[in-house]
Amino acid sequence: MKADKPVHLSPRAAVEGQTAIPRHIAIVMDGNGRWAKKRFMPRVVGHGQGVDTLVKTVLACADRGIEYLTVFAFSSENWKRPSDEVSGLMGLVLVAVSKHLTKLASVGVRIRIVGDRSQVSDKVRGAWLEAESRTEHNSRITLSVAFNYGGRWDVIQACQQAVKDGLTADQITEDSLASRMAMSYAPDPDLFIRTGGETRISNFLLWQSAYSELVFTDCLWPEFGEAELDHALAEFARRDRRFGGVKVSADEPTHSA
Ligand code: FPP
Repeated sequence: MKADKPVHLSPRAAVEGQTAIPRHIAIVMDGNGRWAKKRFMPRVVGHGQGVDTLVKTVLACADRGIEYLTVFAFSSENWKRPSDEVSGLMGLVLVAVSKHLTKLASVGVRIRIVGDRSQVSDKVRGAWLEAESRTEHNSRITLSVAFNYGGRWDVIQACQQAVKDGLTADQITEDSLASRMAMSYAPDPDLFIRTGGETRISNFLLWQSAYSELVFTDCLWPEFGEAELDHALAEFARRDRRFGGVKVSADEPTHSA
């Protein structure tokens, strides 16, 4: 099912509907800077290599039947990086769109951007709009690029939207907030991968990853390939997902925790 509305599974439905292949994978693409430094190159070269890895990964995910891939490309906190790195990352958006959009569009990738667009330049905003509009009828896989995104920003903007919509305190519910989150068009990520060896979430998809399975790998993002993806998928398939409930057999009632 393609989700244009928030998808909420009850704990029981979620347990019963568990499959070995995640519908939605989220990735923190960490390690670009170290990959470049090891080669005595500027960090932004690592980000450029990271774009190529991203393109290969979205195609590999599509081949495996994954419906949604969401990647953390620029966090609300990344503005604190040196200005040449920030401008390098912004320039990379333009390069990436001109180099890869035609191919991605032709193989059925839909691109969506999540994050606060008000702070990015007109050029970057324009490139993202072009990527979104040229792929809006595609449905093989949705690649969501989190750009100037933060999980806390997302919760705050959903609350602000609820207030603007005139909701009363009683109407602030999981569903009413979820439908105002930046990724309300997608099911929550089943699998959350972070490359680069750090074992934290770093303000990515805080609300949406409540029940995601976390997989951390030392592999630096530019070196992430099909073998690492399949390793994460195998790890996911081994996990026992209960969504706060208990494992049920067919003749036993469910209890949610
Ligand atoms: C973290 O690695 C990575 C980022 C902050 C940026 C990730 C961006 C890309 C892969 C490019 C995506 C761009 C587009 C246009 C989609 P790091 O720099 O923190 O690496 P380090 O931990 O080794 O220093």
